[in-house]
Amino acid sequence: ETGMFTYDPGFTSTGSCESAITYIDGDQGVLMHRGYKIEELAEQSNFLEVCYLLLHGELPDKAQMKSFEKNITYHTMLHEQMMYFFRGFRRDSHPMAIMCGVVGALSAFYHDSTDIRDPHQRMVAQHRLIAKMPTIASMAFKYSIGQPFVYPRNDLSYAENFLYMTFAVPAEEYKVSPVMARAMDRIFILHADHEQNASTSTVRIAGSSGANPFACIAAGIASLWGPAHGGANEAVLNMLMEIGHKDKIPEFLARAKDKDDPFRLMGFGHRVYKNYDPRAKVLRQSAYEVLEELGDSNDPLLELAMELEKIALEDPYFVEKKLFPNVDFYSGIILKAMGFPTSMFTVLFALARTVGWVAQWTEMIEDPQQKISRPRQLYKGYTERAYKPLDQRG
Ligand code: SDX
Repeated sequence: ETGMFTYDPGFTSTGSCESAITYIDGDQGVLMHRGYKIEELAEQSNFLEVCYLLLHGELPDKAQMKSFEKNITYHTMLHEQMMYFFRGFRRDSHPMAIMCGVVGALSAFYHDSTDIRDPHQRMVAQHRLIAKMPTIASMAFKYSIGQPFVYPRNDLSYAENFLYMTFAVPAEEYKVSPVMARAMDRIFILHADHEQNASTSTVRIAGSSGANPFACIAAGIASLWGPAHGGANEAVLNMLMEIGHKDKIPEFLARAKDKDDPFRLMGFGHRVYKNYDPRAKVLRQSAYEVLEELGDSNDPLLELAMELEKIALEDPYFVEKKLFPNVDFYSGIILKAMGFPTSMFTVLFALARTVGWVAQWTEMIEDPQQKISRPRQLYKGYTERAYKPLDQRG
């Protein structure tokens, strides 16, 4: 009689990994990159400096920073032929669909940075990916709203350049607001890396087979798109707009606790944090500053989010399950106030996380012990049984 059984293959899993890039203490709500706390980096550093730190393990000196900034700036343009690639998409394509497709296609345009065994090609691939993501993201946005692409400028900072390519139009002068640029840069820092989350693990697993870096980052973008992961920032805004008023909060909290209801409180809970996500704390403060700057400090969405957080954090279910706001809970409110449509929120997450994916991919490739990833399974299927021809199967 065949029955279900479990079989453990016994070999050591290659599903987990060692890394020196990011440390998280989920119980204490601590996040550090190469030993520096995220709060300090968000307050005192800038995104390109954090990129250097993640890639090289140390904060750069002045000469290193100047050379790194020059390298990234040099790679911000996209091969002109890729414009035709964009034009193949429907205008109403989700920008994440465009980003996924275009980033994967980079390996068809940049053959001189796909040989992962060559350290120089790896470095060029790192710089190209970090430099071109803002250009691709802004082009995906421009294409979806029927506006012309805006080319990058070398006289602007990384965040300024992205805002310029996204919001400038040929018809008039566009001045980047320093407050918006600072908020954008800080949002990039807060999303840069986060240890072995789903999308980073996807990039590592894809890279472990020797696939080229562009294909690996495209795989990471696909994984990040899910609403349980990077897609949550878009889902939070949609949820807040569906709740609409604080009187409706109890109804949605009840749904979030109902096991028969698939609704989850978006922007709450985390695989690792069983305390307040330190990134959410910084974003909560940033939301105030950006909205103040825009003269929207009593933005109804922010007020609703703060009320929702207050009620949820006093709710026994959320307290017992240790569910706190995560990085996605406040980010969308800031992005919406800055003028981004919700469809662009996860694109911005992918833009910022590219440096984390690239740093983790490099760490794996440069590990001499590295093997192809092969996560374990616990087999719980049938024991052996004889084949039955169709005419004997009734
Ligand atoms: C990101 O991994 C990373 O680092 C990701 C990320 C990064 O920077 O890369 O931090 C970015 O993805 C943040 C998370 C964004 N996702 C969301 O905000 C979506 C809403 N959150 C949930 O889908 C959920 O919290 C997850 C997916 C994030 C985690 O789910 P888990 O692993 O099931 O969480 P858990 O084991 O801690 O859950 C404990 C309990 C479970 O109930 P029981 O099985 O114990 O009965 O709490 C429940 C969960 O069902 N629960 C929730 C909930 N999150 C967990 N109930 C209601 N609402 C929620 N949001």
